[in-house]
Amino acid sequence: MSAQLIDGKLIAQKIRQDAADRTQKLRARGIQPCLAVVLVGEDPASVSYVTAKERALEEAGMASQDIRLPQETSEIELLTIIDKLNQDPQVHGILVQLPLPKHINEDRIITAIEPAKDVDGFHPVSVGNMVLGRPGFLPCTPHGVLVLLRELSIPTNGAHAVMVGRSNIVGKPLANLLTRRDINATVTVCHTGTRDLADHCRRADILIAAAGRPGLITADMVRPGAAVIDVGVNRVEDPAAKKGYRLVGDVDFEGVKEVASFITPVPGGVGPMTIAMLIQNVVQAAEHRLQGV
Ligand code: GUN
Repeated sequence: MSAQLIDGKLIAQKIRQDAADRTQKLRARGIQPCLAVVLVGEDPASVSYVTAKERALEEAGMASQDIRLPQETSEIELLTIIDKLNQDPQVHGILVQLPLPKHINEDRIITAIEPAKDVDGFHPVSVGNMVLGRPGFLPCTPHGVLVLLRELSIPTNGAHAVMVGRSNIVGKPLANLLTRRDINATVTVCHTGTRDLADHCRRADILIAAAGRPGLITADMVRPGAAVIDVGVNRVEDPAAKKGYRLVGDVDFEGVKEVASFITPVPGGVGPMTIAMLIQNVVQAAEHRLQGV
């Protein structure tokens, strides 16, 4: 293996400790940061994400309001719950775990969340603020990737970053953030309709995969010495594994680790950073309320 393994857990732990310290200061003033976590249905991946988020909140000394709703919950019912959470002064942040069941319009739900409580950074106001470089919550996974690059001193100034994926949650915001002046990368965005994907990827100094396709990025698509960030989380069947499946990213780890300079593992790379950035956003939401921002 030639690539340095990026330990997302270790970097995430530092951020979570910082958030825990800030939480202590708030609690000394009688405020406990609180995130409302809303999960509709029982999608196993979503259940495990939500559980991990709630555990991290508790560990940081924060409170969570766990709201689990049946799959059949109507859009109106969900909107009513969000409205209550928007009004509730005890609640600093609201997270509605995605994806939502098909009969609920995701866009309408996200837009109903009060932007001051939008710790996911998905509300159109948050997205607009991000694009304009104004203060606001940054989406957790893209922000986590930026922090990984910074912590590992991976050069971004003038570097060519290739973003594979264009989702609202990862690809779109991350491509945008990478062009910020303090990061200063040149960005190519690729997606399922991209012709000659391998050619684009080979031109990357920083290759970021967030397409949701196991093994999409193979060693021949990576320039020797490139930094490879794998945002993919895919469950693949594995009868030998205890749960009957294992988690893999979008990158063929075994092959690519021989070519890249840095590589994130799955699990243990970007995933822990997403949770850490969420925790940071929740404490920030509580601090802002105190400061009247
Ligand atoms: N589903 C996958 N990633 C996320 C996330 O960061 N936040 C929410 N709310 N749902 C998700």
